[in-house]
Amino acid sequence: MKSKKLVSIIMGSQSDWKVLCSSKEILEKFKIPFEKKIVSAHRTPERLYAYAKSLKEREIEVVIAGAGGAAHLPGMVAALSIVPVIGIPIETKSLKGLDSLLSIVQMPAGIPVPTLAIGKPGAINAALTAISILGNKYPDIKKKLNEFRNKQTNSIKKIPLND
Ligand code: RP5
Repeated sequence: MKSKKLVSIIMGSQSDWKVLCSSKEILEKFKIPFEKKIVSAHRTPERLYAYAKSLKEREIEVVIAGAGGAAHLPGMVAALSIVPVIGIPIETKSLKGLDSLLSIVQMPAGIPVPTLAIGKPGAINAALTAISILGNKYPDIKKKLNEFRNKQTNSIKKIPLND
């Protein structure tokens, strides 16, 4: 297992962790070293700035950022760094996460935030996307991702089971 943290999982609030922990579980399964932090764009803007500015020197290679509502966090981190930032819209009570989705996905041209599905599927796919990016540099990670995909494909039955 590598010792240097390769992925940083950030979220706007403790309440987002119940979704982001699905990213954590996938990264652990692949034995990818990661960190997790609460960094709120609107409640802790100075923490956000210091965090984004630290990414380069800490050699973090991918950021997974989950936020809900008027979700500025992924876009702001992407604006302050050139590390890839993968956005996960968190489901909200009022608009079911459509607000988060549109806030994260609709970045104006120039500062990209590749944005995944709302909630848990997005969190799982964010980790798999991070692993795919890392796999371009680390052959052992690429090998594990290929094994994961083959296992997943082989697990799908051709005929549904009777109930
Ligand atoms: C955003 O506000 C967070 O990302 C979270 O999804 C949402 C609600 O936060 P809490 O009120 O639960 O702390 O900043």
